[in-house]
Amino acid sequence: MTTQIVYLNGKFQPLEEARVPVLDRGFIFGDGVYEVIPVYSRRPFRLDAHLARLQDSLDGIQLANPLARPAWNTHIARLIAEAPWEDQGIYLQVTRGPAPRDHAFPAHVEPTVFLMPMPLTPPGATLVETGVAAITRPDNRWLRCDLKSVSLLANVLLRQAAVEADCAETLLIRDGLLTEGSTSSVFAVLEGVLVAPPPSTLVLPGVTHDVVLELAAELGLPNTHRPIPESELRLAEEIWLTSSTKEVLAVTRLDGTAVGDGRPGPVFRRMHAAYQRYKQTTMRGTG
Ligand code: PDD
Repeated sequence: MTTQIVYLNGKFQPLEEARVPVLDRGFIFGDGVYEVIPVYSRRPFRLDAHLARLQDSLDGIQLANPLARPAWNTHIARLIAEAPWEDQGIYLQVTRGPAPRDHAFPAHVEPTVFLMPMPLTPPGATLVETGVAAITRPDNRWLRCDLKSVSLLANVLLRQAAVEADCAETLLIRDGLLTEGSTSSVFAVLEGVLVAPPPSTLVLPGVTHDVVLELAAELGLPNTHRPIPESELRLAEEIWLTSSTKEVLAVTRLDGTAVGDGRPGPVFRRMHAAYQRYKQTTMRGTG
């Protein structure tokens, strides 16, 4: 097996050798933030957007960015070059670092910076053709879901609920309105219009979501941000999930009931094709 090289606090080393102290606040409090950046043909996808969101998450938890932009670029480039996969995902995490246990910020602490390449396998042709099943659950996460925090316990439990129901994702409802999925952004096609919940502190600003909206504009698809009541979600012609790892995926069953005719809809098909074309032209240079 190829050795997987990761970056931890200034050092490139094999994954098995990377160690953080047990008092790291990421371990003790979940006090940190993260990003997942897709890489196609060894080129990072939307790196600027991911690093801008990382900055927003760091600002949101009052943690100074430990690396300047050129350092992020070179570390990410080196990991991509050394990883065994042409397509991969770069996981990166910054925590407040190791300190004696106290909820309040320590006076002197060095943040922990960890970057790791992972294999990236977007949904295969079968899943794209059939779509996936999803369930709904109350969104019981905290009120700053716009921050990509490593405190993911609610998301973990919500995603596990989907697995136990033999489903791919859990769609979250707060105060009667759709927010997002446990690990993805959500779109619905409602009376022919592509609709997403409005940006707010209750949803993560998805990088893939933004790509989909750019492509919708290019395709001339009517689209808007507006609140989606649960009752409307259940009548949607189409429902899609988007994320760095799922790209665009159709939900064809919701809580056991078919979405539309139970197959990925025509708007999804156009968007999926556009997304693949976009990847092909911008990332692989084969357009
Ligand atoms: N998750 N909403 C939530 C709660 C997410 O966890 C994610 C992604 C998204 C989509 O964001 P983006 O399009 O920028 O990947 C929305 C990543 C992939 C993860 O936690 O593994």
